[in-house]
Amino acid sequence: MEKNNLRFETEAIHAGYSSKEHQDSLVPPLYQTSTFTFDSAEQGERRFAGQEEGYVYSRLANPTVKILEERMAKLEQGEAALAFSSGMAAVSAVLAALTKTGDHILCSQGVYGCTFGLLQFLKEKYNIGHDFSAMSTKEILENDLKPNTSCIYIETPINPTMKLVDLELVASAAKQRGIPVVVDNTFCSPYLQTPISHGCDIVLHSATKYICGHGDVIAGIVIGSSNFIKEVSRTTQKDIGGIISPFDAWLLLRGLKTLPVRMDRHCENASMLFEFLRTHPKVETIYFPGNSDFTEDNSIMHKQMKKPGGLISFSIKGTKQTAQLLMNQLKLIKIAVSLGDAETLIQHPATMTHAVVPEEERRKMGIEDTLLRLSVGLEAWEDIKEDIEQALEKI
Ligand SMILES: Cc1ncc(COP(=O)(O)O)c(C=O)c1O
Repeated sequence: MEKNNLRFETEAIHAGYSSKEHQDSLVPPLYQTSTFTFDSAEQGERRFAGQEEGYVYSRLANPTVKILEERMAKLEQGEAALAFSSGMAAVSAVLAALTKTGDHILCSQGVYGCTFGLLQFLKEKYNIGHDFSAMSTKEILENDLKPNTSCIYIETPINPTMKLVDLELVASAAKQRGIPVVVDNTFCSPYLQTPISHGCDIVLHSATKYICGHGDVIAGIVIGSSNFIKEVSRTTQKDIGGIISPFDAWLLLRGLKTLPVRMDRHCENASMLFEFLRTHPKVETIYFPGNSDFTEDNSIMHKQMKKPGGLISFSIKGTKQTAQLLMNQLKLIKIAVSLGDAETLIQHPATMTHAVVPEEERRKMGIEDTLLRLSVGLEAWEDIKEDIEQALEKI
C-alpha cells in the first residue's frame, strides 16, 4: 500500500506521526516542556544559527505541536502548517504577514465579529483599509479590488448567514493579479472543504471548533506553502508569540482522529433539523448551505463542499425579545457561543458573536435581531428537534 495515497479518514489518524521515532508509543507523546537541552555550547550555537536540525525552545517549535502541524497540512492539502494559541492569533498572524501600512484587504461580505474588530484596529492604527465584497461574479470582484489590495480574505460559509463564496472564481481572478487568497475554513473543517485544492493560497482555522470537537481547547492553525509558513514562523509567530501549548496540540491530535465520523453525524443531524425548521410556521427564514431554495449557493456547495455542514441559522417571526424568549425556553440545547462541539449550542449573533459590528454594518451582513445560530451537536437529532419544538410552542 502506497503510504502517500491514503484516504482522509486514515490520514486524520496517522499523518505526521511515526511511532518508531517516539519509543514505539501508539499515541503521539506529549512533550510538555518549554525548552530543550544542548549537548554542548557549540551545539547550542549551531542550532541557533540554523546549521543543525533540532529543537531549541517551545515558542519556536515543539515535537507534539509539529505532529499536529504536519497532520493538518496533509488534511488541508497544503505544504506546511503552523499552530497558534487561538483562531484569532492565527487570523492576526496571517494578516500581519500579508499587509503593511497603506495596504487594502478585500473581505467576503461577512466575517466573524472579532475578525471584524481586528480589521477596524488595523485601519485605525496602521492605515490598512478594508472593504466587503459580494464576490459573486468576476466583474464584481475585479471592480472591488484596488491597486493596493494585498490580500483577499474569505469566510465560506459566511458566519452566521451561511452564504457561500465561489472559491475557484475568487482564486482565478486573484491569481491573475498575484493577490493571495486566505480562507477561514472553520465552519467546514478540511473534511468538508479544502480551499487549497480550489486554487486558494492560505487556509486558517479556529481549531477551537470542529478540529477539536470537544469544547475543551482554544487554538488556531494556518496552512499554506512552505515559504509562507516559514515566513510566518520566523516573524509573526516567533516574535509576537501566540503559540499553542503542547497539551492543547495533543488534545487536537486526539480530536482529529474522529473528525470524519463526527462531521458526518453533525451534517446528518443538521439536515434533519433543517427539514423540520424550514416549514415551521414560526420560522421566517432559514439559512443552510444544503437549502436548495438558494439555487446559486446550492450549486457552489456541490462544487466545493462535500456536505452542507453542521450549522443552521434561522430567523424567528417577531422581535429580538421573541428570539431571546425562544433561547430561554430550551432545556437540552445550551446557550453558548462557539460551534463544532458534541453539545448542540445556540447563540444570538446580533448581541453575541457580532455585537462588536455596528448595527448598520450588521444589517448589511444580513444579521437581523431575530436571527439565531444553531451549532448542531452529536445528540440524537430527534431530541434536539423535540427541544426546539417545545420552545417554539412557547413563543
Ligand atoms: C469563523 C471563525 N473564525 C475565527 C474565530 C476565532 O477563533 P478563536 O475563538 O479560536 O480565537 C471564530 C470564533 O468563533 C470563528 O467562528
